Amino acid sequence: MGMDSDIKLIDENGLRLDGRKFDELREIKIEAGVLQRADGSAYLTWGENKVMAAVYGPRELHPRHAQNPSKAVVQARYNMAAFSVSDRKRPGPDRRSVEISKLISEALEEIVFVEQFPRAAVDVFIEVLEASAGTRCAALTAASVALADAGIPMSDMIASCAAGKIDGHVVLDLGQKEDNFGEADVPLAIVPRTDKVTLLQMDGDLTTEEFDKAMELAVGACKEIYEIQRDALKRRYSTSLEGYEDFEEDE
Ligand code: CDP
Repeated sequence: MGMDSDIKLIDENGLRLDGRKFDELREIKIEAGVLQRADGSAYLTWGENKVMAAVYGPRELHPRHAQNPSKAVVQARYNMAAFSVSDRKRPGPDRRSVEISKLISEALEEIVFVEQFPRAAVDVFIEVLEASAGTRCAALTAASVALADAGIPMSDMIASCAAGKIDGHVVLDLGQKEDNFGEADVPLAIVPRTDKVTLLQMDGDLTTEEFDKAMELAVGACKEIYEIQRDALKRRYSTSLEGYEDFEEDE
């Protein structure tokens, strides 16, 4: 962000490096229930990002001293695979992944009915298999679907998307080069039905006017993403029903 560079991020037709318009998302696809052993799971591709989320629980939290006697603890672990970025990423937690894990945990605690499960843990494992900017938003979006797929009592899903500024223009959903050479990146997460903000960060500088514009774009995108999330769950649900009907016919 803010790196000095001659790279032009918007062409004379007002299009971005990958041909997108200012307010255009990269393509997002989500599939729920892709892992057999997890209680819930989701696989998400978002542009060139590839993210797997697996949910376990609610289950007894170990070590016991970490338990909360009045509610469940949501423990998200965001991890980038060593092969997920162009330079090999050193395996294991680093400052960045610890920070992202913490903010995803805090966001998800807002939607899970944690009071129903004292002393329990809800574990959310997020593996970034390929990274191309916007992985925290992709991770939170996938994690929400995996939680719903696990049937964990929750008020709603969280949808997340960033907006930012490149070449002096406010745009939606920065790609890798836009993230590297742009002027600002503002990841946002909301509960789309209530418009409650569960994550907001800002890297770089914006005027208040630009910030408002960025929020307008990101909120609109979150609502679009929410429909993709719901669609993933609907498809998952209708497939299992079909399977059940087949099973009954065989009887
Ligand atoms: O991924 P997100 O935009 O949420 O977080 P970031 O810290 O702004 O990182 C932006 C992008 O930089 C990531 O999505 C990766 O593609 C890349 N990155 C990398 O190449 N190596 C790292 N160790 C961390 C990030």
